[in-house]
Amino acid sequence: MTDTDLTHPQQAHQSHEAVAQLREIALGAMSAAAVRAALRLGVAEELGDTPATVEELAQTVSAEPRALRRLLRALASHGIFAEQPDGRFAHTDASRLLRADAPRSLRYISLWSTEPWTWQAWPRLDEAVRSGKSVFPDLHGKQFFDYLHEDAPESAEMFDRAMSQSSVQSAKDVTAALDLTGVDTVADIGGGQGIVLASLLERHPALRGALLDLPGVIATADPRLREGGALADRARLVPGDCRVDIPIRADLYLIKNILEWDDESTARTLRNVVSAASPGARVVIIENLVDETVSMKFTTAMDLLLLLNVGGRKHTKESLLTLIDQAGLRRGEIRVVNPSLHMFECTLPG
Ligand SMILES: C[S@@+](CC[C@H](N)C(=O)[O-])C[C@H]1O[C@@H](n2cnc3c(N)ncnc32)[C@H](O)[C@@H]1O
Repeated sequence: MTDTDLTHPQQAHQSHEAVAQLREIALGAMSAAAVRAALRLGVAEELGDTPATVEELAQTVSAEPRALRRLLRALASHGIFAEQPDGRFAHTDASRLLRADAPRSLRYISLWSTEPWTWQAWPRLDEAVRSGKSVFPDLHGKQFFDYLHEDAPESAEMFDRAMSQSSVQSAKDVTAALDLTGVDTVADIGGGQGIVLASLLERHPALRGALLDLPGVIATADPRLREGGALADRARLVPGDCRVDIPIRADLYLIKNILEWDDESTARTLRNVVSAASPGARVVIIENLVDETVSMKFTTAMDLLLLLNVGGRKHTKESLLTLIDQAGLRRGEIRVVNPSLHMFECTLPG
């Protein structure tokens, strides 16, 4: 008698499901690669509202038809594009998100998540888990952002576009959630290309603002904030490193999705905010929280990617509050900005 003979039908079914699940996960790199290939080929952009044959698509995206069919079939098994009974392919809600013109487009975020550096870093996850540190110094002899800006300018550009794309929706939510009563000046620290700051300045015509980020990012700031832009006379662009110095005096410091690197960098950044700000200034920290996430698979994946690239992490409510306390900031209210973002109101003690 074999082990299988002893297995209850219910257990056998569960074990088939477990085998299928683990096989799919172990081959998960294919899914990411297939999304990237579809993006680089431009399939989602070329496929309109009318379903198309593989041959038609292959011609427009310059691909070999049989190989393209295999790519589309693999993606369709995940609900990205759908094969119709007549063999033509149509868009699905998920495949439309790969288009740059989709209302909640994930085009640049999908490209960023599958950039060449990610394929070098993921195989070293076991090393990162052993050491608890980024693999970048070992892989490239430098820190992640230095590598991006010095050695991989296309990836740096993709990163900035991805951050700006994800900021477009969250900027509306942050602008709606943030009470700026009595605030004359706001500083967005690590504010990327300034989508959130521009949105705040547009909503509050008397507000003035400063945007601090790395020099390469500031150079490509939102045109509304740059010289000649509609908001330029109320915006100051500050290229710099917030771990070294924050040379900005403001009533409110906004720190959104940057306290995700190693704790020492977070501590230094918060200390620099504390040194720059006057007593009573507000410090508003906005983050996705692992313990309040709407998608554990997405947040835990980002958490591990942050471990690999910057030795960082996604926080829990408690871990962030600990860092806030250590910086000497006074905790205030914690509010929901949208289903995936929480806002921690803090003040500099008087
Ligand atoms: C995840 S993005 C968040 C951008 C923006 N706050 C938002 O929520 O859309 C992190 C930002 O931190 C910036 N950054 C990384 N290291 C930095 C440093 N040492 N000083 C200033 N900015 C930095 C990056 O360039 C990037 O724009």
